[in-house]
Amino acid sequence: MKRSSTDNAQFQKLLAELASHPQLQCLKNIPQHKGNTTFAHCISVAQRAYHFAGKWHMKVDTGSLVRGAMLHDFYLYDTETMPYSDYRHSLIHPKLALQNAEKIFTLNSRERNIILSHMWPIPGAPLPRSREAWLVCLADKLCAWEEMHRPRYTS
Ligand SMILES: [Fe+2]
Ligand SMILES: [Fe+2]
Repeated sequence: MKRSSTDNAQFQKLLAELASHPQLQCLKNIPQHKGNTTFAHCISVAQRAYHFAGKWHMKVDTGSLVRGAMLHDFYLYDTETMPYSDYRHSLIHPKLALQNAEKIFTLNSRERNIILSHMWPIPGAPLPRSREAWLVCLADKLCAWEEMHRPRYTS
């Protein structure tokens, strides 16, 4: 399925609308992956997932893809200060992200699954059940790996 400039404009509009939401702006204060922010990570995941959908000619619900990607890590704490292990964080944070997201937004079942399943295949994580969820799950891993391995320059 060939993507039109209208599709791309719709994606950019949806992303910009959600990114400018005051509650999501708070993610700029949450560090993630060694010097990155959760806000920047979520933007990267949304862009990467949308890019893959176009590259692989996949028909997706762009609104759900953007909401799922932007809210998948909406857990609102610095992992350096959390009182539990990294593994426990890996299991818990999708549920916290969903709880926080549902205080602000009305999400459909696809969007809820995108958030809850993004840590698949770690044991205990639910299976992604839509094209959008698979794309966000894959994009999240690639973005996280790149963010953690990006060279750091100090002045
Ligand atoms: Fe996550
Ligand atoms: Fe993530």
